[in-house]
This record gives sequence, structure tokens and C-alpha cells, in this order.
Amino acid sequence: MPNHPKAPKFKNVPRHVAIIMDGNGRWAKQRGLPRIEGHRKGVESVRATVEAAGETGVEFLTLYAFSVENWNRPKAEVDTLMRLLQQFLRDEIAELNKHNVRLQAIGRLADLPASVGGQLHETILATSRNTGLTLILALSYSGRIEIIEAVQSVIREIQLGHIDPAQIDETVFSRHLYTRYYPDPDLLIRTSGEMRLSNFLLWQLSYTELFVTPTLWPDFRKPDFYEAVRSYESRNRRYGRI
Ligand code: FPP
Repeated sequence: MPNHPKAPKFKNVPRHVAIIMDGNGRWAKQRGLPRIEGHRKGVESVRATVEAAGETGVEFLTLYAFSVENWNRPKAEVDTLMRLLQQFLRDEIAELNKHNVRLQAIGRLADLPASVGGQLHETILATSRNTGLTLILALSYSGRIEIIEAVQSVIREIQLGHIDPAQIDETVFSRHLYTRYYPDPDLLIRTSGEMRLSNFLLWQLSYTELFVTPTLWPDFRKPDFYEAVRSYESRNRRYGRI
């Protein structure tokens, strides 16, 4: 995809960038605000990052927006996150279309409240013809559960006689993951300085380059995204070879 005139020029653009958007709570706490305000500000970072990724020529951007573990947060916080998500899905359709962004989602989507699930479906449909960036939201997502569901799906295929266990290799198995339509991420960005994967894309991140920034997610803007791509540009990916 062509580099947009607004973005810096990169020699080597990652095809797929995945982001663990962390630090919303701490950002709010530092300012004596309720955690919710950090999430609200985080939506602005989502907007800026989607634009930056599109302008850089990234093809796939996966955002870890809500984990299966996040359901255990206080009900008021979960409710607000769901409301922010629904608002984003409803209000951003025009902007996504303007920027030629196609929305997709991965995770246990049936766990979402019906109103959020319905809006998600609607926005996916409304942006399905766009041919630029594919924005993938990980919602009610767990890497371990994704792998377990893939195993269950493989077993069903075996029981139906559609595959022979001897044929199962990485390619066959990958076709049973939520991410079967997308390449593995080339670059993982995690904000707020934490050095963890937090159950995100456990299978898919095997050979992904990591970039951890101390910036808290609500402060993350286009220059932070460009800095991560700049760092990726200079990496020498060997995939276990020399
Ligand atoms: C992590 O910060 C962030 C989340 C659990 C939610 C991310 C959600 C958004 C950015 C807004 C909604 C998303 C979209 C796509 C519109 P934290 O709360 O764990 O922060 P902490 O570690 O400082 O407590």
C-alpha cells in the first residue's frame, strides 16, 4: 500500500501491527481522575493510531480492546468500557469509510452485550467494502481460549473425517484460529512499560518484533506510532536462522 504524503517515509513497513493498549487507569490516577477518564482519552489514541497506521501503509492493525479477564473488573468500569466501545463503533463509521478502513473483530464476540454485538455487526458490514487498512478489535479475547477453541474445531473436523491427524501442521492449525484470515503480526507495541503478553495472540506472536514504550495509552499519538515503526525498520528478523 502506498505511503501517505502525511506520514514519514519508511523503508520497511510492518504489514501487521498489534497493540496492547495499557495504562489508561494509571493515566487517570496521575491526574486524580476516575479510571473511566483514562479510557475516554484512550479512544482519542485509538483514532490517532488508526489514522497513523493507514497513512504509514500498514495493512492490518489489531487492538487489544477488552480481554476475557477484563470481565472481572468492577461492573461500573465494564459498563463504561462497553458504552465507549458502542459509541466508537456507531460514531466512527463515517470516519472509517473516509479513511478506507475495514473493521473486523476477534474474540468471544457472543459474550458481548447484545447492543454492542449488534452495533459491531453493523459497523463491520458498513465498512466491509473498504480496501485500505483492516482494523481488527480483540474483544472478550483470550489467547489460551482461542487455542482451545481451535483444538475443539480441529477435533470436530477429524470426527467428521475431513482431516487426518497426520496432516495437522502449523498451516492447518492456523486455519482454526480467529485470525485465520490475517497474517501474523510483524510488530507488537505495548504501552505503559509493562513487559508482558497478557494472554494476547499467544500463537501468532511467535516471531513478532516487540516494542515497549513507557508512554501511557491515553498519551499515545501518531509520533509514538512512527517511533515504533522506525524501531521495527532497523530490526534483523532471522526466524531462528543465522
Ligand atoms: C488498559 O488500561 C486498557 C483497557 C483495558 C481498555 C482499552 C480500551 C480503550 C482504549 C477504549 C475503548 C476501545 C476502543 C477500541 C474504542 P488499564 O485500564 O489496564 O490501565 P492500568 O493498567 O493503568 O490500570
